[in-house]
Amino acid sequence: MRVAIVGSGYVGLTTGVCLAAVGHQVICVDVNPDRVAAINAGKAPFHEPGLPQMLLTALSSGLLSATTGYFGAIAESDVIFITVPTPQKGQGIDLSYLAEAARHIGAALQTAANYKVVVVKSTVVPGTTDTLVRTILEDVSWRRAGEWGLCMVPEFLQEGSAVDDSMNPDRIVIGRWDERSGQVLAEMYRPFECPKIFTTLRNAEMLKCASNSLLATLISFSNQIAALCEATPDTDIEVVMDALHLDRRLSPVVDGQRIRPGILSFLRAGCGFGGSCLPKDVNALRSYARVRDVPSRLLDAVMSINAERSAHLVSLCEMALGSLEGATVAVLGLAFKAGTDDMRESPAIGVISYLAGKGALVRAYDPMVCRPTGLEDKDNVVLCRMPDEALTGADAAVVVTAWPEFAQWDWDGLCAKMRRQVIVDGRNSLRSVSWPACVEYLSIGTPATGKNEE
Ligand code: NAD
Ligand code: UGA
Repeated sequence: MRVAIVGSGYVGLTTGVCLAAVGHQVICVDVNPDRVAAINAGKAPFHEPGLPQMLLTALSSGLLSATTGYFGAIAESDVIFITVPTPQKGQGIDLSYLAEAARHIGAALQTAANYKVVVVKSTVVPGTTDTLVRTILEDVSWRRAGEWGLCMVPEFLQEGSAVDDSMNPDRIVIGRWDERSGQVLAEMYRPFECPKIFTTLRNAEMLKCASNSLLATLISFSNQIAALCEATPDTDIEVVMDALHLDRRLSPVVDGQRIRPGILSFLRAGCGFGGSCLPKDVNALRSYARVRDVPSRLLDAVMSINAERSAHLVSLCEMALGSLEGATVAVLGLAFKAGTDDMRESPAIGVISYLAGKGALVRAYDPMVCRPTGLEDKDNVVLCRMPDEALTGADAAVVVTAWPEFAQWDWDGLCAKMRRQVIVDGRNSLRSVSWPACVEYLSIGTPATGKNEE
């Protein structure tokens, strides 16, 4: 089939290379000419394991190309995906990119020679596809839905495993306006062996918001218990959570083998969830609830627990150092999670701004984020290229991203270069390190040193 993908970011480009890998003819459309040029030159515009190889294969097989030109791309397609951003705006989400994409697609539908299905893959709240998107498409094309197809297919990929998640999805949910639209997508997705759920547009939209809200809720639940552990002598969140995970309703035993579902990795305490989606999608659902007069107390609590995490990390650091005024603090990790160079809504942003606000000099290091971030425009924030550049002369180090290599570092050597040896582990990812005796190591979810007696 011929597929156009409007918006060539994490979701769009990954979808494009995976559809090309199963034999579809894909054209990626993007408003950013640099991105289009990079894709055509075989350069993935962001870090994602496996993507560069998939992109090169798709280009060399002639099954993928990129363009800034909407009209030709859509005229030549059977299925058109919309994968543009839906970022947070005020209390809700900004639908202007989606509306803009729909206007361009509508213009091309006006003169379309064949039946085409428009598929919303950007994350939206229920009702967006069959109101905003449909109305724009109908108004601009002068054709009613039904003359062209309309679907909503939510995306569940995680950054860092986007290609694998897309090639081997848990399920494909196809919200469709009518049967005919759904049948076209059933044909397109035939090579993917997984459960396929055909449902209403609004079920598909609601499911996506619910899915990210559940993950966020599990994380905030874990952080709530961690806060209680920190206030309770002789407790440790890691011990509590490891044992909680062994409940057979969370990790069943099948044929004598314990199955450890991936969901358990969201029942881990830390410095809070970030990324371009979890925070914005929970907020979008809260806003949706507000408009409908439905109380959203659980989701409100999920966000307010999350909002406290960065400040909490800084308060642990302050407690150990006495004062942050004039202290040098190394921030280890800028990405919102390990395995990506994406800093959108990263907890590191809050940690750095609290530290800087309290008069600390911040020396930040991330193995993957090497480009200017905007954070270093502040007088007292420096971006370092090497770990020892960040740690030399530091009074404390705060771990924000759980990069596995941090646990492999020569900590004896690095600690010797620090002025004071305070380590605040916001991800509990350095618990296995044998620390030199001089180190004060503080982690999440256990009472700080000296507080283990009542
Ligand atoms: P992104 O920012 O990585 O990429 C979006 C792309 O769209 C950019 O290349 C941008 O130049 C382009 N663009 C913007 N306006 C355009 C327009 N009018 N026409 C053509 N191109 C346009 O975004 P993303 O992370 O891929 O997210 C896209 C959507 O998918 C969002 O709704 C997001 O919530 C959702 N989503 C993201 C993920 C993820 O892990 N990143 C996972 C699931 C769902
Ligand atoms: C998340 C979802 O996992 C995807 O299913 C979804 O498609 C995507 O959002 C989206 O809609 O964009 P992603 O943003 O890549 O994927 O990141 P996650 O792996 O879910 O992690 C989100 C945040 O939660 C990270 O900051 C991570 O460090 C944090 N986290 C995760 C915790 O603090 N504790 C945990 O136990 C797990």
